[in-house]
Amino acid sequence: MSAVATPGDGAPLIELVNLGKRFGEGANQVVAVKGVDMALQKGEFVTLIGPSGSGKSTLFNMIAGLLAPDEDGSVVFNGRKQKHGELLGKVSFMPQRDLLLPWRTVLDNAIVALEVEGLRKAEARDKARALFPEFGLAGFEDKYPHELSGGMRQRVALIRTFLFERDLILLDEPFGALDALTRSLMQRWLLDIWAHHKRTILFITHDIDEAIFLGDKVAVMSTRPGTIKYSETIDLPRPRKAEVTTSAAFSSIKKRLLAVVEEESLKSFETVKKSPC
Ligand SMILES: Nc1ncnc2c1ncn2[C@@H]1O[C@H](COP(=O)(O)OP(=O)(O)OP(=O)(O)O)[C@@H](O)[C@H]1O
Ligand SMILES: [Mg+2]
Repeated sequence: MSAVATPGDGAPLIELVNLGKRFGEGANQVVAVKGVDMALQKGEFVTLIGPSGSGKSTLFNMIAGLLAPDEDGSVVFNGRKQKHGELLGKVSFMPQRDLLLPWRTVLDNAIVALEVEGLRKAEARDKARALFPEFGLAGFEDKYPHELSGGMRQRVALIRTFLFERDLILLDEPFGALDALTRSLMQRWLLDIWAHHKRTILFITHDIDEAIFLGDKVAVMSTRPGTIKYSETIDLPRPRKAEVTTSAAFSSIKKRLLAVVEEESLKSFETVKKSPC
């Protein structure tokens, strides 16, 4: 059973209104994100794609409450406009790097957020241990991060993110470092987990196939200043199997998205050529 919210079944979980972020002052100012408007319904899986440096991680940092947006924009969460600082802790967030602590076992890495929330260690470990089989990590609880493969490390970081039980999950290129085969296994696995846990997910990727395969909607960010240049609802039926990626419907969505992404990537390349620093 899919957790997809049907249109019109209530107010969005989160709304970004004219969201922007400038870094620095005067001649050194960088407008990383500008005028982003976007809404996510409860249970929706939205993928975000765009050239490197287009402001995707900056956008995530604002949604997670780690970075204050420029004053003219806002984040509305569960119908309430959020003041700076209020969002912190309301969203679970997997940053672009897995950030596992090398001196902690895998199990103790998984419980970091629960410990910060004040849960007793024994209780936190029990909760985490229960998820290890579902995340394909049974038997690895007492290993250290350096003893795991890249895919396994990503799953530990994902357990940690899922254990921090918030309605909205932000995943910043969680499969970026994986080979194609492991990546496709992880994508199908993530869709199963999402359907089972019924969370709302915003997922950054550089991979168009991944964005289409996973998303209810794909949003494309423009080159800097990053804004939502294009978005498309993905009507491919769920549950999705690997074969869907070779269907005619998939190819025609990909063709449209590729045109927008390539245009933006070329622009960002031109910008880098003009000012290589
Ligand atoms: N703390 C900061 N101070 C100054 N500039 C920043 C800061 N964080 C990000 N930037 C700039 O904002 C722009 C957007 O960066 P961001 O990391 O959001 O891009 P991205 O789309 O996530 O890129 P990638 O796909 O490579 O991860 C870049 O030009 C970056 O140099
Ligand atoms: Mg990034």
